Amino acid sequence: MTQKKKTRSSTRKKSKKTFKNNKLKTKAVARKKAVRKTVKPKTPRVAVRNSPIHGRGVFAVTAITRGARIIEYTGERMSHVEADRRYGELHDGSSHTMLFAATDEVVIDATKRGGPARWINHSCAPNCETNEEEGRVFIDAIRAIRPGQELLYDYNLVLEERHTAKQKREHPCHCGARKCRHTLLGNK
Ligand SMILES: C[S@@+](CC[C@H](N)C(=O)[O-])C[C@H]1O[C@@H](n2cnc3c(N)ncnc32)[C@H](O)[C@@H]1O
Ligand SMILES: [Zn+2]
Repeated sequence: MTQKKKTRSSTRKKSKKTFKNNKLKTKAVARKKAVRKTVKPKTPRVAVRNSPIHGRGVFAVTAITRGARIIEYTGERMSHVEADRRYGELHDGSSHTMLFAATDEVVIDATKRGGPARWINHSCAPNCETNEEEGRVFIDAIRAIRPGQELLYDYNLVLEERHTAKQKREHPCHCGARKCRHTLLGNK
């Protein structure tokens, strides 16, 4: 999705857009025990296809149980400073991003060398959530998912500037959920 670039004053900081994992650490740690027992499936459980929500998406090809660890969000790992340098300008005026802020220090950039998880779309009524463990980000099912259903998590997209009504409109959500909040932006 492209949008017209806007001119900004040169003193204004260009901010990248990242998905943010805002789970409490305690929750991630609690989940860890269950995760260790997870057996890696022999056949892929997901496939990348066109999505009715936006561009490409990731879909279940087998039944996925609630609580299952599905896939890791992989890509190039870098500092926030480096992500800002690469994408600050590019993200100005576009809602498209493949950056995931794993921790306060590390951003995962799935733009060029990312795994299939980068295609997972956002929903305001998601069936997945993201959990960070030791700097790695995993997508886990929070509901039972049937074959053919799209995997969706809440992006909780965070901008460095204030989330104004205008910013929310410029990052529209098309998830179609009954309680859609109509923006990809989340809580700061
Ligand atoms: C990591 S990509 C996900 C894959 C994306 N569908 C694609 O084909 O590039 C993230 C971008 O997809 C778009 N997107 C994801 N979920 C969306 C939604 N519910 N409504 C509108 N756009 C969405 C936004 O532009 C977002 O920045
Ligand atoms: Zn929505």
